[in-house]
Amino acid sequence: MMRSMEPLSLRLRDETRDLHEWVEDHPFNQDLFSGRISMTRYGQYLLGLLATAESLERALGSELCPPELAGLQMPDFFRSSALKEDILHFPPSDVSSPELARYLEGPAVPSRIAAMAYVRWMGDLGGGQIIARRLADAWHLQSGRDHGLSVYVFPKPVGELRHRLRNALDAIPFSEAEVEDTVLAAREIFELHESWFSLL
Ligand code: HEM
Repeated sequence: MMRSMEPLSLRLRDETRDLHEWVEDHPFNQDLFSGRISMTRYGQYLLGLLATAESLERALGSELCPPELAGLQMPDFFRSSALKEDILHFPPSDVSSPELARYLEGPAVPSRIAAMAYVRWMGDLGGGQIIARRLADAWHLQSGRDHGLSVYVFPKPVGELRHRLRNALDAIPFSEAEVEDTVLAAREIFELHESWFSLL
């Protein structure tokens, strides 16, 4: 089968796998994952995630949403309210940086919005679930809401949501060129994520 005939979610998975391994090994991620991170530094990380979540949720907001992305308007995935709750538990210092600004300033074209939904939401549904357990252990918190870990709590089982997101991505009526752009945009977002990690 030609690559261009493959479902978008498969292409995204296969063609960003190398970058996933790369961000997973990043020293910041290792600190996060092992629970060696300070609460202030974690708060800075959450503030950056909030900025990316708000930008994505704005792009998918009802009037602004490009019609072909209607299938990605899924509030079960929206993380900004949970992030705001969590930030109250881990007050950050400052988070502004040119790297984060570049991350947020990406063009609001359908391919980049879809790529952002893929990288951010799949990340929360995958590694995020493991990070929640590691932080709960390290900081002796109970997982879940009211303890600053609400960003990892979803209203539905994560396996079901992963499936739903893959289906929604595969149903977007993108042209071949737009599928190509989405894969490239996802790779760029991973790289921006890595640059931002380096400053945290
Ligand atoms: C400690 C760090 C991380 C760990 C341990 C981790 C682990 C995982 C795991 C286990 C999955 C597979 C979930 C499944 O399908 O069953 C996954 C998927 C994914 N993660 Fe991560 N992750 C980490 C960091 C990140 C970061 C920082 C990002 C984004 C910048 C990210 C983006 C993704 C994406 C997009 C997928 C979906 C892959 C697919 O298409 O199947 N992850 N991750």
